Amino acid sequence: MDRQRPILVAGGGGFIGGHLVADLFRRGYQNVRSVDIKPIDQWYHVDKRAENTVADLSVLENCRGACEDVGIVYNLACDMGGMGFIENNKALCMLSVLINTHLLMAAHEARAQRYFYASSACVYNAEKQVNEDVVPLKESDAYPAMPEDGYGWEKLFSERMCRHYYEDFGLETRIARFHNVYGPHGTWQGGREKAPAAVCRKVIHAKATNNLEIEIWGDGKQTRSFTYIDDCLHGIHLITNSEFRDPLNLGSNELVTINGLVDIVEKIAGVQLKRTYNLDAPKGVNGRNSDNTLIQESLGWSPSVRLADGMAKTFAWIESEYLAAQKPMQVV
Ligand code: NAD
Ligand code: GDD
Repeated sequence: MDRQRPILVAGGGGFIGGHLVADLFRRGYQNVRSVDIKPIDQWYHVDKRAENTVADLSVLENCRGACEDVGIVYNLACDMGGMGFIENNKALCMLSVLINTHLLMAAHEARAQRYFYASSACVYNAEKQVNEDVVPLKESDAYPAMPEDGYGWEKLFSERMCRHYYEDFGLETRIARFHNVYGPHGTWQGGREKAPAAVCRKVIHAKATNNLEIEIWGDGKQTRSFTYIDDCLHGIHLITNSEFRDPLNLGSNELVTINGLVDIVEKIAGVQLKRTYNLDAPKGVNGRNSDNTLIQESLGWSPSVRLADGMAKTFAWIESEYLAAQKPMQVV
């Protein structure tokens, strides 16, 4: 691939996009363009080496500007969040289809060499995720289609758009299905946070206020696998640079119950909390895990970070953010 042409990271002000910008510089790329709809002071990372632009990428003209002369497009822009957000904002989630559609059009017009799309484990058929002791999901389990309402349908449709852009126009598209990615510099408050960050925040708050209780959404027996950001970045790099055009799982296969996740965080924090269970809260599927056979065999990728280790780093970062938010503003 031509390293002189700019690389676009769409959604570069977000969690994974922000990490990806830094990772691209680490890998020696020098011409990185980061675009996000949020005002720059709300970006999770601002890398001064990148060309940082605020633009709404659901608008075709803005996508054309962002894709000018571009070599690789990484599409990580999406209106999304954890269960608390996607269960209550289905129309907003589906509107992200405009971002992917317009970015594909603009990337094709600019004759981009590669287009990476961040899909999700939420594309998988709900009937395969009814039990907590779920059979790990393999790529073919997305069909027959019965994905997560709203968000999952948008991801599945956008995956197919990528496929058809290759088939009809020759745009080289690559697709990863992320399984709940966590780590420092992610959303940890405000309603879009996912379980790993939410549990860290709740435990930190309980400890700081000496109110040693925690509310858990659901019965705590639901299962998930959580992917540390470093493993995710490594996978994005391998998938983008591979010749593999079909969607690939990019996820940990270390299955844990939500109660087990709380155990891990309590151990890190050195506390034990009284647990209450909110059965009316957004819960999603009962069980979800990643079958990594295909990505392991085709690209040699497998997750390397244990949940307890990744959570220790995530907890430390959220704790520092939490404490910084408590400090009164210094008057100078
Ligand atoms: P994030 O919310 O931190 O980042 C997404 C970014 O996209 C945000 O900064 C947001 O402002 C930006 N954005 C939204 N609408 C936009 C628009 N119209 N124009 C420009 N920018 C816009 O989320 P993330 O965790 O970094 O996720 C990145 C991608 O990975 C998304 O496509 C998401 O659906 C996918 N994904 C993430 C996870 C996960 O666990 N984090 C799991 C599955 C899939
Ligand atoms: N968010 C959150 N907050 N979830 C909680 C909490 C809490 O305080 N307490 C318990 N949970 C439970 C949820 O009810 C759910 O059953 C489980 O933890 C996981 O919730 P999330 O982390 O919010 O989402 P998810 O794993 O169901 O789906 C996420 O991952 C997908 C990819 O694997 C979402 O972020 C999707 O957008 C993403 O595509």
